[in-house]
Amino acid sequence: MVTSATFDKADFTPDVLICVDQSGTIDRVISATDSDYQSVKQTAISQDILQVIPEGNYILPGFTDLHIHAPQWPQAGFALDKPLYEWLNTYTFPLESKFKDLEFAEKVYRSLVKELLANGTTTGLFFGSIHTNANLILAKVCAQFGQRAFIGKVAMDNPDQTPDYYRDDSSKEALAETEKFINQIFELQKQTGAELTPVITPRFVPSCTDETLAGLGKLAKKYDLPIQSHCSESIWEDQYAIDRFHKRDAEVLDQYGLLTDKAVMAHGTQLTDSDLDLFSQKQTAIAHCPISNVYFGNSVMRVNDAHQKNVKVGMGTDISGGFSPSIYRNMQQAIMSSQTLKDSGNDQARISAANAFYLATIGGANALHIQTGQIKPGYKADLQIVQDQYFDISSNQPQEIFERLVYHTNKENIKQVYVSGKLVHNNLGEDYGK
Ligand code: GUN
Ligand code: FE
Repeated sequence: MVTSATFDKADFTPDVLICVDQSGTIDRVISATDSDYQSVKQTAISQDILQVIPEGNYILPGFTDLHIHAPQWPQAGFALDKPLYEWLNTYTFPLESKFKDLEFAEKVYRSLVKELLANGTTTGLFFGSIHTNANLILAKVCAQFGQRAFIGKVAMDNPDQTPDYYRDDSSKEALAETEKFINQIFELQKQTGAELTPVITPRFVPSCTDETLAGLGKLAKKYDLPIQSHCSESIWEDQYAIDRFHKRDAEVLDQYGLLTDKAVMAHGTQLTDSDLDLFSQKQTAIAHCPISNVYFGNSVMRVNDAHQKNVKVGMGTDISGGFSPSIYRNMQQAIMSSQTLKDSGNDQARISAANAFYLATIGGANALHIQTGQIKPGYKADLQIVQDQYFDISSNQPQEIFERLVYHTNKENIKQVYVSGKLVHNNLGEDYGK
């Protein structure tokens, strides 16, 4: 198995028994040198509950994707050569407005959630659309397919920055619909037992009126809920905050009670040292979306600087500002982009495969306060079984196997995925393990 130990180190342990209890929690991890390894293994065989992972296959923790725009899935990869403002207004808002059609919403959300699970993403933090009923469909699809989900009704009511055809009618409506959605998710969770959490979701500062930003801060406090938004994604966004509030984007969010220890802010490519200090002080997390940032971010988020300041950082795909639903693909880009930041003068900017893997697992779990992302007792059994394609022809030193998995794992190599011990994706071919 491979599991992240610290920011700098991934542990590789061969021949372990991972024991999962009835509630889907990892009970014990027994290594081959432990005295009861053989007896536990024999008991599991006699009860016919031992699942053997074939040679050249490894168990990894499932990933957390900290930033997904669910209704943007049908346009993943479209128009990424346009600047953010134009991309939003010409492509994204028209697409999101179509989610008042609930049949369309269901079709798209089933496709998306299946795809995310097939890519090893066991927990998702989702922006929905402005439509409460379509967002509820997303929650039902996650419950049905078994993905752990944090979902927000997008609030956007500022007539200056949103189109007539896609906007909350008023601040009152944005807040009332948000509260209605919160209670619907609580109800659905009670009915199904699914791991669902509602999230307070101001789209970003420009989209929202002052009343809505303030009201959402209060709702987050009233229900003690997570918050998600975008912060300092682009030079344009930062300048907007200065022009309207004479403040930094992060300071505006903080002023309205939206930077909390349960908040996850996407991108942060333009965050200054003092913004990072504010994030650290508030214990607010950053969703690092490196593919999207190449297109819209105007620079590279400083992962090492944020980590050194004790700011929580996890990985996000930002579907569809990022085209790929794969956290593997985003880990690769995070490493590549950090190299360009180093080349442009930030000597400490480079990150390793172990750093990226930490963000995708422990970083994301810490941001959402969930016991996942590591294979150890007391953690949820969120697991992926991954086949190493090049096992027969390459070096099999632990570090090399680990880096190969980070760089070469495709959807086809992800053989099974479990959330809280429950099988949610199965891709075992006929000759698997033969
Ligand atoms: N800022 C506000 N909305 C969006 C969005 O949908 N995608 C990205 N990348 N940035 C945004
Ligand atoms: Fe985004």
